Amino acid sequence: MRKKVTVVGGGNVGATCALRIAEKELADVVIIDIAEGMPQGKALDLMQSGPVQGYDVNLVGANDYEATANSDIVVITAGFPRKPGMSRDDLLMKNYEVVSYAAAQSAKYSPDSIIIVVTNPLDAMCWAAWKSSGFSKNRVIGMAGILDTARFRTFIGMELDVSVENVVAMVLGGHGDTMVPMLRYSSVSGIPLTELIPAARLEEIVTRTRNGGAEIVKLLQTGSAYYAPAAGTVEMVESILKDKKKVVPCAALLEGEYGYNGLFVGVPVKLGSNGIEKIYELSLNEEEKKMLKVSADAVDELIKVLVEKGA
Ligand code: NAI
Ligand code: 2OP
Repeated sequence: MRKKVTVVGGGNVGATCALRIAEKELADVVIIDIAEGMPQGKALDLMQSGPVQGYDVNLVGANDYEATANSDIVVITAGFPRKPGMSRDDLLMKNYEVVSYAAAQSAKYSPDSIIIVVTNPLDAMCWAAWKSSGFSKNRVIGMAGILDTARFRTFIGMELDVSVENVVAMVLGGHGDTMVPMLRYSSVSGIPLTELIPAARLEEIVTRTRNGGAEIVKLLQTGSAYYAPAAGTVEMVESILKDKKKVVPCAALLEGEYGYNGLFVGVPVKLGSNGIEKIYELSLNEEEKKMLKVSADAVDELIKVLVEKGA
């Protein structure tokens, strides 16, 4: 029987996820969006690419969750961008409502599914999805570390003029500017990065990676990145559906690991058919511990705001 993936939010990231899932023939796809006609139109358009691209999967669009029943995976990309006059907290609450509703509906119609959260602010939205789905912690996972790592790997590949396939990197912590690059665990075909790139230059590359999302926003002017975010999300979908057991950085609920409790933080995990099958605890030096704390504190702040406002 074919696998089924629901993508909530048929915008840039969601539609690109649907396209990549179809092109890889990983699963049938349901796209859910509040915009009437849009998910239906995009699904039909994607279906009509099948004969040319050579894929046989069904794609449907809908505005309610009935069509999503019995999905294996639900990817949540739905959300709002920040609008003029809106505070960061206003946006947090608005996307909290969107993600909570999406997770609750997904749990109702697909009680055995695994939820992958993409909506920002990522780590707090993972917490929202976990709370409102009632799912066990292995079945709610956030996508960010793969994207941050992909950006870092790209910049290292560009710097050294080597294949990005040979660049192995690991980041911990929250998404974007609070990410913690684990340079000691990053290499080009096993050669430590620190032996290939002078420390000062490496620091510049890390800074560019941390600001990788903002760099794209500035260039696009009308939205944020979606090709690489969708690629990262679909790598997670594939690892779970095919039980590949890839070890990748994802946002996971920590219960004591790295000294944190009840927070979603980016850490290396093994992704298989049970979702997060293992969290790897790396030994950190003092500087890395300090950076991870900054990152975890930033997530904690957002959760506190959510709780204060009744979440
Ligand atoms: P977009 O604006 O293109 O798409 C968002 C879609 O969500 C829209 O089509 C909108 O109609 C839909 N939507 C809003 N409320 C909804 C609801 N209640 N139910 C269903 N659909 C709803 O935005 P884009 O570029 O696709 O980004 C989506 C989210 O992913 C944003 O929060 C963005 O910040 C985040 N993001 C996160 C990344 C990460 O690394 N975790 C990377 C890239 C984006
Ligand atoms: C990014 O890093 C906006 O989180 C998104 O591109």
